This record gives sequence, structure tokens and C-alpha cells, in this order.
Amino acid sequence: MDERGERSDDFSFTSFASLPFYSAVNARLLDIAEIGKERRIVDLGCGTGAVTKMILERLHTARESVIYAVDHSATALRGAVAELGGRKDAAIQFVQAEVQQLTSAIKDQVDAVVYCNSIHYVQDKRLLLRQIRERLRPGGRLAINTSFFEGSHPPESAEFYRRWMMRSFRILKREHGLSPDKSKKVQARQHLTADEYEALLESTGFRVVRSEIEEFDVPEAGWYHISSFSDWIEGIMPGVPLDAGRASLQKGVRQVFQELNLTVVPRLWLSISTARN
Ligand SMILES: C[S@@+](CC[C@H](N)C(=O)[O-])C[C@H]1O[C@@H](n2cnc3c(N)ncnc32)[C@H](O)[C@@H]1O
Repeated sequence: MDERGERSDDFSFTSFASLPFYSAVNARLLDIAEIGKERRIVDLGCGTGAVTKMILERLHTARESVIYAVDHSATALRGAVAELGGRKDAAIQFVQAEVQQLTSAIKDQVDAVVYCNSIHYVQDKRLLLRQIRERLRPGGRLAINTSFFEGSHPPESAEFYRRWMMRSFRILKREHGLSPDKSKKVQARQHLTADEYEALLESTGFRVVRSEIEEFDVPEAGWYHISSFSDWIEGIMPGVPLDAGRASLQKGVRQVFQELNLTVVPRLWLSISTARN
């Protein structure tokens, strides 16, 4: 365990996903998509199950409902099973699959697909949206949110990111004797604008019911805990052992919060609720 009680081998999304500000982000999406009445619902890219749990709590007919919790990460799914596997109030089916292969992974038609904080991972979004459309009943909801879109970083947060990266790379070098290996860099994630997301959805058979951008204040704990998530570390510090990456990013963020006398750093989230045509 480290000083904040994290297991030293835990590089999952769990500690970040349990923060109140993050629940508020996802609650907003579930609100605008009016999730609650569905019988069959997919939580796509479910991670360790934080959003799955929120969906379950909203279902009016949980006992007659099925939630398909889909993720390609066995580690993430193990976390989700540990958190929710014992729940008797709804059937949750945990499905290990690539989201791009949704139609092979799930054979049923569903009433809604909730896709939180994951669409930016996928390169061929058009293919994925076609797969989702094939599994959704006509009129069914697709709800998406992301904080990785063009414009998600308010200009006033630029200095924070610049200093955080500079400090963390220095700590990585000085205290661990390491540098990122650029040849191992994960494929650059393509950031669409909000308008591009909407146009993409409209052109793949969805009607945008509501789309909004909202600013959320991310506290120091948010940046600290996201620094223990393997995908985050690998994105910033490719090829670096996860424990050294985490230690450097966490130390760096603490320094910068102190230096700039910050309490929060704002970040914008895009939330889109659609209905399948
Ligand atoms: C940032 S987490 C979000 C988890 C959860 N939806 C939430 O909002 O709390 C992204 C998740 O997407 C999963 N993921 C990324 N690319 C994927 C893919 N191509 N197929 C399936 N899962 C994927 C990752 O394993 C990770 O658990």
C-alpha cells in the first residue's frame, strides 16, 4: 500500500472513478439520456464498473433488466466483477471484448448503450457506431461522454499541463534514471470537435437529442489518481515502467498544485444523447 492506501500493483481506473466529481460527470450524461426505463442496456468500455453501478441504481425494473458490461481489459473486468458480481438485484453480464466487435460479443437487441469516457480510444469510430446501431432497437438511446475532444482543455489550464509534464519528466529522469521511449508511443488519439462528433453520429444513423459541453473542476485528487491508471501513464510516458511513471506524475502534480496555488483545474466534458433512427 502507498501513503494514500493504493495497492502498489493497482494501475486500474478504480481510485479515479470513485471521486465525487467524476460521478457527477457521468450522472449528468445518464440524466440527459434519461437512463432508467431500459430492460437491456450495454455499458460499453465499462472499466471497473463505476458507471455500471450508477446505471443499476437508476433502473426502475432492475430485477427484470440485463446490463451487459463490456471491456477488453481482463484486469478492469475483474475489478468490475469484484465490485458488482455479487449483486442479485439485476443480471449483469460481464463481457470481455473489443468494442469494435460488439455485434459478435452481444447477440441481443438492446434498449440503450452508455459509452462513458472511452470513445476517444477508438480510431475507426464510424465502424464502431455502425456496430452499436446494429444492436440498438429503433428509438434506443446511445449516450456518449468524453473529456478528450478538441477544445476540452480550457486555455487557463494550459500552464498547469505544461508545468506538470515538465516537472514529471524531470523527476522521472532524476529519481528513476528513465526517459519515455518515443518509439513505443501509443497511436495518437484523434480529437474530434463537438460538431464533428455530432455530424458523425447523424451520419451513422443516430439523431442527436441533446449535446452539451460542461465544465467540471477536477481536484488535485483527480490528477493524482488518474496518474495511477495504466492507460494514462502509457499515454504520457510510453515504455516507462508503470510504478516509476506513476510516482513521477503524482509527485509532479503535487508540486505544481503548490507552485501555482491551485485547488482545482477545470476540464470540459462533452455529453451527447442520441436516439437510433
Ligand atoms: C477511461 S476508462 C472508462 C471506464 C468507464 N466507462 C468510466 O467512465 O468510468 C476506459 C475503458 O475503456 C476500455 N477500452 C479502451 N479501448 C477499448 C476497446 N477497443 N474495446 C474495449 N474496451 C476498451 C479500457 O480498458 C478502459 O477500461
